[in-house]
Amino acid sequence: MQTLMRGKDWIETPDWTREELDTVLDVAADLKRNFALGIPHRLLRDKTLFMMFFEQSTRTRNSTEAGMTQLGGHAHDLTPDKMQISHGETPKDTGKVLSRYGHGIGIRNCFYGMGNQYIRDVAKHADIPVISLQCDVDHPCQTIADIMTIREKFGTNTRGLKVTASWTYAPSYARPLSVAQGLAWLLPRFGIELTLAYPKEFYLMPHTMEKANAFAEHAGSKIKIVHDMDEAFEDADVVYPKSWGCHQFLQDQGVPEEEKKKQGMALLDQYRDWICNDKRMKLAARDAVYMHPLPADRGSEVSDSVIDGPQSIVFDQAENRLHTVKALMALTMGGRP
Ligand code: CP
Repeated sequence: MQTLMRGKDWIETPDWTREELDTVLDVAADLKRNFALGIPHRLLRDKTLFMMFFEQSTRTRNSTEAGMTQLGGHAHDLTPDKMQISHGETPKDTGKVLSRYGHGIGIRNCFYGMGNQYIRDVAKHADIPVISLQCDVDHPCQTIADIMTIREKFGTNTRGLKVTASWTYAPSYARPLSVAQGLAWLLPRFGIELTLAYPKEFYLMPHTMEKANAFAEHAGSKIKIVHDMDEAFEDADVVYPKSWGCHQFLQDQGVPEEEKKKQGMALLDQYRDWICNDKRMKLAARDAVYMHPLPADRGSEVSDSVIDGPQSIVFDQAENRLHTVKALMALTMGGRP
């Protein structure tokens, strides 16, 4: 068991070894048990985490802030408009200054082509651990909670388990690609056979897929890509359908915003039938479970009957965000000197 994680950044799961990830899951299970029993676990007494959110959040913000309170510390809830970031302060200066005041920095920055680099720039100059609360490339706090949830439902030997991560239709806003990419990076390392399904325009960042395939090969598992949602659901043990954006419209190509929106909606309209409903759930394995990181676009991504139905484990999944982020903070901001 690898236990020396004090000071280590949590930016992408590929930065962590499988042994380190196992420790996080082990500690998360312990903290979950303590939380259930009301056993105090003030492992980060008097410590401070700075949380910088460039985008909105329900789960990440509240699980992290509640987690710091339960660990005996405090989290500052920051947004760029509350900081000098809005006047151009550099990631270097922000990282250096916050390092003088506290013990950890959490950042959500999902700007396409920029978020991951911003977090890495802060981390390069910070003397305290930096935790990604999601970027354009990975959402490691989500996927570590997802693997914890899958192991709770199916047991810790997940070799050969079939998981389908599918794109879904959602007209409300263009979500980052980072959950799907993060699943492609993490699940095959646990022996999971991953099927990725999406309309061809919604492909994932090529460099993330190269890395994902290398991990899968190393672990003796496979990643399959299909462009048909029904085919992807057949015999899956876990279905994880969620929407993400399209490169063509996430990139700035000099097209006026209104025109880009019109073209984006025209593309989306072709794929309105990419929804997780009862008919599709019947294609999956008999005891298949339905997962979604939330927020879900009900009626577009998923029917109420599925997300509120007996196969849905979305609230267990959301709960595990708390236990896993507490494990990450306890190990990186506390832990062994
Ligand atoms: N799943 C997730 O990251 O949710 P929030 O955007 O609400 O944090």
